[in-house]
Amino acid sequence: MAYTVSMVAGLRVLGFESSCDETGVALVETRGQALPVLRSQALFSQIDMHQAYGGVVPELASRDHIRRLLPLGRRVLAEARLGLNDVDVVAFTQGPGLAGALLVGAGVACALAAAIDRPVLGVHHLEGHLLSPFLSADPPEFPFVALLVSGGHTQLMQVHGVGRYTLLGETIDDAAGEAFDKTAKLLGLGYPGGPALAALALQGDPTAYRLPRPLLTQDNLDFSFAGLKTAVMVQARRLAESRGVPIHGLALSERADLAASTQEAIVDVLVRRAMAALARCGLRRLVVAGGVGANRQLRARLDQACASAGFRVHYPELALCTDNGAMIAMAAAMRLQAGCQQAQRVYRFDVRPRWPLDALTIS
Ligand code: KG4
Ligand code: ZN
Repeated sequence: MAYTVSMVAGLRVLGFESSCDETGVALVETRGQALPVLRSQALFSQIDMHQAYGGVVPELASRDHIRRLLPLGRRVLAEARLGLNDVDVVAFTQGPGLAGALLVGAGVACALAAAIDRPVLGVHHLEGHLLSPFLSADPPEFPFVALLVSGGHTQLMQVHGVGRYTLLGETIDDAAGEAFDKTAKLLGLGYPGGPALAALALQGDPTAYRLPRPLLTQDNLDFSFAGLKTAVMVQARRLAESRGVPIHGLALSERADLAASTQEAIVDVLVRRAMAALARCGLRRLVVAGGVGANRQLRARLDQACASAGFRVHYPELALCTDNGAMIAMAAAMRLQAGCQQAQRVYRFDVRPRWPLDALTIS
């Protein structure tokens, strides 16, 4: 049976995130049409486990989600002083992501929902990121342009309302997060590379190397970061050969210059494209979401560009930029408030490792 928010005054939504290398659980509560409130959340990052391999190992990720989901769920309910029976809807990340990892979250969510005879709602991971700024102290209002920058996606979306998204442009190859991660790996910074590269960049000169800004001359809103990665590699190899050392053996200041120049190129492209998207849509509000949205240089440059154009820019709280359960429970709660009919007592737990965001509907 379909289950809509209008049936009850308030709903408690328990959300599970397990699409990649973070296990997240959270409880969000709705009151009528007011913005849903986060009651409690718990997160376990698998970064330490994957670090030894230099990247996410899907099978290890799935197995670890199995270990973490229920204990985290118990913690979330205990913190909110609730029992499982107090939950009205169970939400989970249905995709996109690693198939095995998604299946674990979906299986746990559906089993719990079946046990308490409540509906389940599969949530799109990127919709979770996109709506996560609604949990911040400065929530946006619809409509807006969203810049989604994660490890797997780089997209510009026109957001008309919950579940109503139009794709404006996206990367034709690597994602922005991937560009950070691959360059970090090249410079011997380990995994995940984004925060490490950003930290090293603080000590470097962003103008030291002239790196390409691919596609910027083209009249569209797409991105390309694969060429940038190659250009950094060429520069780093040239420098390493001239010093007679491997790339990892370059002086800290040289690696810092490469890191700063790379970050500058990525940020420059993201800022220019985001501003162009706002102009094209005739909108004055930008929302930035996804792991790369935690990047301080990106935030500073977007703040500057939006302030001088008279635009507003909204971010999730720093801790909610990378994957977490709160954004999944929040997206589910907002979908239910918007009249979504997709929460059902059907416990099939099918997942969608590939799933375009603009294919979503509310009904
Ligand atoms: O959204 P997210 O947690 O996971 C995906 O859905 O992919 O994003 C992870 C990505 C990684 O590529 C990571 O290196 C990047 O976000 N990231 C950052 C920063 N923090 C995380 N990139 C640049 N600067 C940061 N501070
Ligand atoms: Zn994500």
